[in-house]
Amino acid sequence: MLSEKIEKLINEQIRNELFSGYLYLSMSAYLSSINLNGYANWFRIQAQEERDHAMIMYNYVLRAGGRVELLAIEQPKTDFSDLGEVLKDTLEHEKKVTAMIYNIMDVANAEKDYKTIQMLNWFVDEQVEEEENATENLEKYNMLGQDKKALYLLDKEMGARVYTPPAILTAAE
Ligand SMILES: [Fe+2]
Repeated sequence: MLSEKIEKLINEQIRNELFSGYLYLSMSAYLSSINLNGYANWFRIQAQEERDHAMIMYNYVLRAGGRVELLAIEQPKTDFSDLGEVLKDTLEHEKKVTAMIYNIMDVANAEKDYKTIQMLNWFVDEQVEEEENATENLEKYNMLGQDKKALYLLDKEMGARVYTPPAILTAAE
């Protein structure tokens, strides 16, 4: 069983992960509109990963005997000034998500809820990777983004990303 407090926090985090997916899909749509199709691909896959994150928590709540309650997802930002703004927003957003995960971890620790801690450990690792990727994307852009030829190559590189579902999710289904 899950405590009421933990169940509520995880349900909110399911919403937050879905919101992340919504935000990244909105960024992808914007990037398509300015013909950065490689970056649009990268963010479309990122959106898919966020839905996976939501489903990992969704599955966990069910397995732990809790009740999944889906909450309203707010509208994401739809207008961006350029690619640089998208990449900056992404890093900021991932830092916020890390803080959210740490907050749930604090509560799980206080409650000695070891199974939730175990589940959250996956997200702690994932956030290290997410912040790393977002930082790298922003740094590359800051270094090379003003050069049109370099931007063309960066866009191509981003277009090579392919979606792979996380093992934790495929194992559970
Ligand atoms: Fe996420």
